[in-house]
Amino acid sequence: MRAIYLTGFMGAGKTTVGKSLAAHLKLKMIDTDAFIEEQTGKSIRDIFEQEGESTFRHYERHYLRALPVDNVIITTGGGMVMQKENRDWMRENGTVIYLHCSPDKILGRLKEDTSRPLLDANKEVLIQQLLKERLPFYKEANYTVDTSEKSIVEVVAEINTLIRKEETGRC
Ligand code: S3P
Repeated sequence: MRAIYLTGFMGAGKTTVGKSLAAHLKLKMIDTDAFIEEQTGKSIRDIFEQEGESTFRHYERHYLRALPVDNVIITTGGGMVMQKENRDWMRENGTVIYLHCSPDKILGRLKEDTSRPLLDANKEVLIQQLLKERLPFYKEANYTVDTSEKSIVEVVAEINTLIRKEETGRC
């Protein structure tokens, strides 16, 4: 099976859904942020603070290509889709599933979070602004699943149905 890439804004549930989906499908899951942290030996926050966002984006582009493209679920950082090369790579090498989430829900989930350097200032404004800017890129995915009002189990079941249909279509 080709890679399944989960994209979406911070707080959309990519990592939680990815873990559950990987367990369900008995596949390995790799998170691009965790992989970058492992490879560089630095936290995402330290990379942003010490090396800047553009170096972090370089790491995203570089390490995305270092990951396997078969029998794997890859969960991506919220900004992975901003670079066209990354959108093209994911579409060419797998199935891209955009996990959509409403700005209100995202704000609720990330209210107390301090791990995302891009949301250090006014979270409410930044979430709305960044989501609006990125929406066209997220929508280039093969499929969109709205996670705003759904449980993890429901989201995983929906993705499972999409994948099965796609695999059947490929045979
Ligand atoms: C980012 C999202 C984060 C992380 C970094 C930048 C973004 O990942 O890659 O802080 O630009 O949206 P999550 O989406 O897993 O929070």
